[in-house]
Amino acid sequence: MAEDGPKPLRGLAILAAPPAAAEDAARPRYGEGDSSYRAAGGRPGITRLVDAFYRIMDELPEAAIIRRMHARDLTESRDKLTRFLCGWLNGPSLYAEKYGPIRIPSAHAHLRIGPRERDAWLRCMELAIDEQGYAPEFAAYLLRELRVPAERVRETSRDPLGSEGA
Ligand code: HEM
Repeated sequence: MAEDGPKPLRGLAILAAPPAAAEDAARPRYGEGDSSYRAAGGRPGITRLVDAFYRIMDELPEAAIIRRMHARDLTESRDKLTRFLCGWLNGPSLYAEKYGPIRIPSAHAHLRIGPRERDAWLRCMELAIDEQGYAPEFAAYLLRELRVPAERVRETSRDPLGSEGA
């Protein structure tokens, strides 16, 4: 009978990891090795993300302020951002391979990027990420990490108030 089976050792129960900690241990640690690159689906996945990002930038009214900073033809922007994100997520350094070294803040220093422009960029990313079907933890992680360079870009742009200062 069931009651005759081994009983849990109550005294030892406190040594067992609580379920939340056990899940933490099993979860991939984004940022370690190429786990983030793989979670994003490698180069094909990042290409899909960037395609969605620029499509949304084209369509979203609040993104018009940043869409008009870009060239009319987004082919090169797509290629550059895709390649950059592959390396940024610890995958292959595809941007440097084709275009040479890059520092994200200096690449934007000639632009007027204030809070509104930064937030429009991040909103396009958020919506693009939402379309990808990533694990929710990875989606949240990716957006959180992208806020860091986005804010850095704003701080070092030629006008960190952007359109809000006008
Ligand atoms: C904060 C808001 C941002 C805005 C408004 C913005 C806007 C732009 C614009 C207008 C360009 C084209 C520049 C040109 O044609 O001269 C550009 C290029 C680029 N952006 Fe951003 N960007 C932002 C943030 C970011 C972030 C956070 C990243 C990376 C995580 C990024 C990655 C790139 C890359 C790789 C290029 C190509 C640079 C080059 O090869 O010259 N951008 N961005």
